[in-house]
Amino acid sequence: MSSALIDPVEPDATPSDPLNFTSIQGDVSAREEGDVVVYQFRNKTFRLNKTKARERLAGKKVINGHRSAELNVLPLKYHEAYRIYKQMKANHWEPDVIDMSKDAHQWNTNTLSAKERWIIEMGIGYFSAAEGIVGDSVLHVIEDNLTAAELKHASLRHIAEESIHMDSLLHIIGSLNIDLDEVTAKFQDIPSIRKKNEFITRHMPEMKMGIDLTQTANKQRFAKALFAITQVMEGTQFYALFAMVLSLHRQNKMTGIGQMFQYTLRDESNHIALGRYILTELINENPDIWTSEFRQELTDFMREGVELEQEFVSDCLPEDIVGMRQQEFLDYVEYNADRRLAGLGLPTLYKVRTNPFGWLDEVIFLKKEKNFFETRVTEYQTSGSVRNSNEDDLI
Ligand SMILES: [Fe+2]
Ligand SMILES: [Fe+2]
Repeated sequence: MSSALIDPVEPDATPSDPLNFTSIQGDVSAREEGDVVVYQFRNKTFRLNKTKARERLAGKKVINGHRSAELNVLPLKYHEAYRIYKQMKANHWEPDVIDMSKDAHQWNTNTLSAKERWIIEMGIGYFSAAEGIVGDSVLHVIEDNLTAAELKHASLRHIAEESIHMDSLLHIIGSLNIDLDEVTAKFQDIPSIRKKNEFITRHMPEMKMGIDLTQTANKQRFAKALFAITQVMEGTQFYALFAMVLSLHRQNKMTGIGQMFQYTLRDESNHIALGRYILTELINENPDIWTSEFRQELTDFMREGVELEQEFVSDCLPEDIVGMRQQEFLDYVEYNADRRLAGLGLPTLYKVRTNPFGWLDEVIFLKKEKNFFETRVTEYQTSGSVRNSNEDDLI
């Protein structure tokens, strides 16, 4: 009944058929009149029209649906988005409580080799702006065009998490006392970084202008933007660098950064899942998008993204160093690209059968062993985890 729209009516002190009323609590009663539930509170009557609620549910669409000014997620249609939202919330973390003293010591006492330092510097240089590109694109290109409130709701959480990731980079830069101008210059002056970001964002400005999403070509542009941000950039182009930094973490080097990258990686797996879900629902509702030419266009786009990423990997790790073989990272890019393509039912390109970094999957599913708040702000998780059985019914 909570999803029905309420039509207050004039007080009706004397119900026409009191025998149909069910006493709820003292002077409160309710009866059903077809699709209308009538509540009587003393001298006030409220008529809840369930037909309107059903119409509202039917009007929910990924795009071009009923737009709700109040961002009311009810009635819930896209249950998986709400489940992913809850998963994202359960993974919540804050960068500035992560201890960076050991990292600062290692950074300032030259514990790392020059090549290991370079990986950290590239990680900071790339992610310090890449996280912002994702956040901005999800806000202005994806969320703006979605019409179903629960999809917008989950996307807003996605955007908030990109802010946390940006914050983590600032925490790293501040803790290590890295020259900010150099970080900025890296983003602009290293060709492999510049090229891969231009590749992802080249169609975004026109998407931000607002496009007519009733046209098939524009729906495809929207679908491609979703694919570019969540499957190519977050799902493929982030992972090799994550793996490099976490390889150092495994060697007990820069463990504060490593911890933040673990949490970030875990978040990214939810962003990829959310993007895949929205894209799948979009295609189900708009089969005109999914032509063989468009599927080929997405596959070609992923191939180009992989080539650019492999150039970037070669810049980060020009040759093998202790504990890191360049070829494994190049393979890992292809392995992830195939995973993203297969997730959308697209043909795979590379056939890398084995994950060269199986241990990274354990990192993604870290929550099973280690929860951020278990060792920190325990009250947060405790108060938040009071279960409401009705809430479970929603998903
Ligand atoms: Fe991120
Ligand atoms: Fe992300």
